[in-house]
Amino acid sequence: MVDQQVVRISDLVVQLLEVSRLQLGGFVLKRSVADVSSLVDEAVQLAQVRTTRHELRLTAPAEAWALVDAIRLSQVITNLLDNAIKYSPNGGLIDVALEATGADALRLSVRDRGIGIPPEHRPHVFDLFYQAHAESHRSGMGIGLYVSRQIVELHGGQITLLDPEDGGAGIQAIVYLPSRLDAAAEARAEPHPRPSVRTA
Ligand SMILES: Nc1ncnc2c1ncn2[C@@H]1O[C@H](COP(=O)(O)OP(=O)(O)OP(=O)(O)O)[C@@H](O)[C@H]1O
Ligand SMILES: [Mg+2]
Repeated sequence: MVDQQVVRISDLVVQLLEVSRLQLGGFVLKRSVADVSSLVDEAVQLAQVRTTRHELRLTAPAEAWALVDAIRLSQVITNLLDNAIKYSPNGGLIDVALEATGADALRLSVRDRGIGIPPEHRPHVFDLFYQAHAESHRSGMGIGLYVSRQIVELHGGQITLLDPEDGGAGIQAIVYLPSRLDAAAEARAEPHPRPSVRTA
């Protein structure tokens, strides 16, 4: 239990540092071309290890390349999976789906079958420190979605929480992310200034 508390407190400290970095403008993405499919796969496997009551089911293409900050994007995926687990106290299925949409975009969906979010709270859940549920369901600080939205928007993407498409209980979180592979290709094509070589 002490170990768990230490992990929780250090997670909170890290999250608070992220928030101050975001607010002070010192939060810079380090982008490179990465396979988002494997990022999602890793995050799902790590989340599955933490719960026996939930079954995480992943649908994703073999590869989905995009110009992203892999560490930050993994943080977003993990936040969404954490929420899906935390707010489904009775366990159940969590569907995670990654797909390519349009020519140059990805769509990630995390759909749980938990307690959902009352409509009056929905507009606020991306606000810093906002929590939509009673004390009994709280364990974090209302930071995860705030940070996730900033990260997704810095990537030029969007994040939303919807009623599940199939009309069932729970929440469906959706992240749209431009792949930006054209930008990556352009950057590669630009001639790099060569260091001058001196010959003695
Ligand atoms: N999948 C979900 N189902 C139901 N409610 C959710 C879900 N995801 C988020 N919420 C609600 O939105 C609030 C804000 O979520 P957010 O992830 O920002 O904070 P948190 O989970 O309370 O704490 P943490 O900072 O540890 O993430 C939550 O407190 C919860 O009330
Ligand atoms: Mg959270």
